[in-house]
Amino acid sequence: GAPVEVNIGKAEPGQLIRVEWRGQPVWIVRRTPEMLESLSLVEDRLRDPNSEEPQQPEYAENQYRSRRKEYFVAVGICTHLGCSPQYLENEFAEQVEGVNAGFFCPCHGSRFDIAGRVFAGVPAPYNLVVPPHYYLDDENIRIG
Ligand code: FES
Repeated sequence: GAPVEVNIGKAEPGQLIRVEWRGQPVWIVRRTPEMLESLSLVEDRLRDPNSEEPQQPEYAENQYRSRRKEYFVAVGICTHLGCSPQYLENEFAEQVEGVNAGFFCPCHGSRFDIAGRVFAGVPAPYNLVVPPHYYLDDENIRIG
């Protein structure tokens, strides 16, 4: 499939933009400072903290799992059996204490933080997949 270009210039803090790439949903989240801080709070509760599986782009092998901290880009498909996780912007604390935003898969209860990192003790075996992507400039991303 062809690459997809997305303008992120108008994304509000906390907003999730959905696009389609190769027939798959791709999410772009503009993360708030609070969301970025929350990534340090959950390090000891992660199943795949180093994004070891499957092979991720090199720029996803960091705490933020992204090229630029402010934006998280991921394929919006649960790594368990392929359901579509929900983006919980303020209600995630009901899933994980002390963390307001993340992703919850309603099919079998997998939970992912706002960098798509899977929590321990849920069925999903690894983190949400980060697709290849590049910044064309400050306001435009190319996926693929
Ligand atoms: Fe998401 Fe099973 S498909 S938890």
